[in-house]
Amino acid sequence: MLISLVAAIGQKREIGRDNQLLWRIREDLQNFKRLTLGHVILMGRKTYESIGRPLPGRTNVVLTRDAAYEAPGCTVVHSLDAAIAYAASLGETELFVCGGADLYAQALSVASRLYLSWIEATEPAADTYFPVWNPSQWRVELDVGFPAVEGTPAWHYQVLERRAF
Ligand SMILES: NC(=O)c1ccc[n+]([C@@H]2O[C@H](COP(=O)([O-])OP(=O)(O)OC[C@H]3O[C@@H](n4cnc5c(N)ncnc54)[C@H](OP(=O)(O)O)[C@@H]3O)[C@@H](O)[C@H]2O)c1
Repeated sequence: MLISLVAAIGQKREIGRDNQLLWRIREDLQNFKRLTLGHVILMGRKTYESIGRPLPGRTNVVLTRDAAYEAPGCTVVHSLDAAIAYAASLGETELFVCGGADLYAQALSVASRLYLSWIEATEPAADTYFPVWNPSQWRVELDVGFPAVEGTPAWHYQVLERRAF
């Protein structure tokens, strides 16, 4: 089973502020939906709470250390290993780790693919960042640019494959 990280990141790897996303770019959100539909998506408890509901058409898995935590319509797990085992037990081919920063930092070492939407903006200010990765360990498989439109910044979409573990 492939483990992939999906994130929209700014020029300084920023991803969020006050437990919210920094940008909402329609094409990027549509692409995220296309990519993840039918798959298992894994998110940290804080990201789940910022969304506030399970994302439809996907098996939503929420990670928390709180044994009593409930997330209606989601599967709650208490370790990254348990999340990976759960997705594998469903016959999943690609597990999508959808944030936030805490989850990305832990899952990066076991991920084989990164789907990164690079938003060409330095605003708004952020309080949450995607982890640093070593570019020499990753090969850019796809890089597509999108111009700024209707008040949304330009961005480009990259798919990176890990060269080797
Ligand atoms: N730009 C993007 O693509 C993107 C995507 C997703 C999220 N975000 C942003 O990222 C921010 C949230 O990120 P965050 O780092 O603060 O929080 P997070 O990663 O969403 O959630 C962290 C929580 O997950 C649980 N957790 C983490 N590791 C665990 C482990 N190994 N075992 C059990 N539970 C574990 C803990 O929950 P408990 O405290 O309940 O134990 C922890 O407090 C928000 O601003 C959000 O909007 C951005």
